[in-house]
Amino acid sequence: MFLHGTSRINDRGHLEIGGCDSTELAKKYGTPLYVYDEALIREKCRAFVQAFEESGFAFQVAYASKAFCTVAMCQLVQEEGLSLDVVSSGELYTALQAGFPPEKIHFHGNNKLPEEVAFGLDANIGCFVADNFYELDMLNRLAAERGRKVEVLLRLTPGVEAHTHDYISTGQQDSKFGFDIASGQAMEAIKLCLQYESIELLGLHSHIGSQIFETNGFVMAIDRLIALLAQVKNELGFEGKVLNVGGGFGIRYVEEDTPLAPGAYVKAITSAVRKGCAENSLTLPELWIEPGRSVIGDAGTTLYTIGSTKAIPDVRKYVSVDGGMSDNLRPALYQAKYEAGLANRMTEQAEEVVSIAGKCCESGDMLIWDISLPPVKAGDVLAVTSTGAYGYAMSNNYNRIARPAVVFVKDGEAEVVVERESLADLVKNDRPLKKLQCQR
Ligand code: LLP
Repeated sequence: MFLHGTSRINDRGHLEIGGCDSTELAKKYGTPLYVYDEALIREKCRAFVQAFEESGFAFQVAYASKAFCTVAMCQLVQEEGLSLDVVSSGELYTALQAGFPPEKIHFHGNNKLPEEVAFGLDANIGCFVADNFYELDMLNRLAAERGRKVEVLLRLTPGVEAHTHDYISTGQQDSKFGFDIASGQAMEAIKLCLQYESIELLGLHSHIGSQIFETNGFVMAIDRLIALLAQVKNELGFEGKVLNVGGGFGIRYVEEDTPLAPGAYVKAITSAVRKGCAENSLTLPELWIEPGRSVIGDAGTTLYTIGSTKAIPDVRKYVSVDGGMSDNLRPALYQAKYEAGLANRMTEQAEEVVSIAGKCCESGDMLIWDISLPPVKAGDVLAVTSTGAYGYAMSNNYNRIARPAVVFVKDGEAEVVVERESLADLVKNDRPLKKLQCQR
């Protein structure tokens, strides 16, 4: 099991995160529990910012809040000087509740609702990343109704396939997101934006996918965006001010994963943009990126308590924990792989291969297949690492399981940033039938 950030094994042989003994955290706050290493989140934010500062580009690093969006996280991201990408009224509302400066918020989404666009306009957010013709028309109309202009980036699909799971690959032509370059839709959208009176076109955007370990996909996408910018300059005399190349930078979930450091992705991106602009005589644009997973993923660890086990001779030993696909949907949805260890017995020899099952009524609710652990017993605390991105964010109430609490840990102190859901929370929006039929 790889230990990220401030995680280490303490004198008691326990997993410690942010100076806190994880078994004490489990005891105090209950399990399942999402534990975030605050120093590591800040370190990742700073790594992206620093790499851009060294590049000489004007830039924005916009944290993709879909990876993990809570009031505390928005506050932390603001403190670190990042911008924010939101994709719904809920994420926007969370950011505003956190006091996030609206001008640093970018609104994404392939089907923004009229009320979401209105919410963003009235909150004076920085820009919308427009995804389709329907939205462009809506943006122009709702901005005009308010007697103002709205700043827009156009999300394009550059026709680059990221080598990742199909469900999280987005840059290919056959995608629900964005205007396609190859078929001419992107050019058409640019022309339309230049005609719309209430739209101010800032520039172009692309996001090719997620959990990407190489830089060549980004470079290919940048080459295509720059070729288009050059064509637009020649044909329409318009030069975009901003180029946003999205997120998708990979992290280490398991040993085979080989992500690059944040700075290496930034370096490849800035070099490709510099080269492309020089070759096409374009002014250097402001460069934006949108890391989500790479800011928050490594920093999260989920603690579970082990309960029942079922050993099937010569077949497999199932070890069940008190959470599962309700707090981490990724294994069931993407066959995502994770590492884990026994937080209360970190120094003991791993002697047994077991599979970690969740507690949901679903055979597919398996968190980890075939992992080596010391012989486990009920009451042990299992720590699954790298769960910080899209874990809490995609948590759900399947089987009416309450969502776990979230704590941030740093320098030996823990702070609850999301309370554990209660049973009462689970029924708070339920309304009993007013009239019950008495017949059987
Ligand atoms: N920008 C845009 C426009 C995006 O669509 C996304 C992710 C990001 C940035 C951030 O990507 P990241 O740096 O986090 O890879 N639920 C899936 C991931 C879905 C990603 C959706 N878009 C998962 O658990 O792997």
